[in-house]
Amino acid sequence: MTAVTARAHTNIALVKYWGKADTKLMLPQTSSLSLTLDQFYTDTTVDFVSDLTADEVVLNGQVLTPTASQKVRHVLDLVRQQSGETRFARVNSTNHVPTAAGLASSASAFAALAGAASRAAGLTLSRTDLSRLARRGSGSATRSVFGGFVEWQAGTDDATSLAVPFQEQVDWPIAMVALVLDPRHKKVSSTQGMQSSVTTSPYYPAWKTVVADDLAAIKPAILAQDFTTTGEILEANAMRMHALTLSANPPFSYFNGESLATMQTVRDLRASGVPCYYTLDAGPNVKVFCQEADLPAVTTRLAAQFGADQVIVAHPGPGIAFL
Ligand code: PMV
Repeated sequence: MTAVTARAHTNIALVKYWGKADTKLMLPQTSSLSLTLDQFYTDTTVDFVSDLTADEVVLNGQVLTPTASQKVRHVLDLVRQQSGETRFARVNSTNHVPTAAGLASSASAFAALAGAASRAAGLTLSRTDLSRLARRGSGSATRSVFGGFVEWQAGTDDATSLAVPFQEQVDWPIAMVALVLDPRHKKVSSTQGMQSSVTTSPYYPAWKTVVADDLAAIKPAILAQDFTTTGEILEANAMRMHALTLSANPPFSYFNGESLATMQTVRDLRASGVPCYYTLDAGPNVKVFCQEADLPAVTTRLAAQFGADQVIVAHPGPGIAFL
């Protein structure tokens, strides 16, 4: 067997995953729904070789310490268990995403790892099973196996917690403008942040209702290409997720001053007749959902405020591919 390379794209959740029900199996508290993006992806090559005494993980040209590579090695262990492969792996991964700045590099990274490692070990997994394997590295990676709009169905155990394509071929002229405000590592990891929200926010039970309602409402809106309803839901859902961080004990936030300024700019754009909506993950970077026709107005305004280098236009992207 030889080295296998897989490419997976990031995704942005429109209805967020924020809380684990089972930290070992990585089962979420709720289902979630995302859009895979074309601009941000990870290429990962995996090779099981005889000359190693431990897994070797290189990310963006740097060898990771055993602590930093713990989740990667966990996924490799699962692959070894499933395949009977006994050798250690050489993993080489390149992120075409600002790592850990809330642009969900872990989503593309663990989807690509699941794909490359399983094939390198001789397994031929369906994309559904790949999504289950990717989930064990990072929850959001579950959805990055598929392109377009994707639902991660929470399920109740390892077998039933998986991604289902909601609409893989997106024939809707929409865009997601990513604003890179801070490419540094986040201070509170998503794992810590969501766990703290689950255990200490008095609003957590209400969040589960919010997600169920938002999922039920956003699906028909997407199918109808109802931009306003989709935008209103994704913005409100993101704010309610962030309300869990503000209401945790101790409270915390992923926003910085520029995040707040961007949200205001989006509201100003809307008031001036340019429809657009914002969402944020576990970091300060804001993503702006808009229609293709309004891209010039949105990007011009954001570039004037933050600099053209910080503004990246993304569109619906594809599912996992083997290179
Ligand atoms: O699975 P993680 O650790 O990448 O957590 C993802 C959490 C959010 O990005 C904030 C929401 C989501 O559904 O992707």
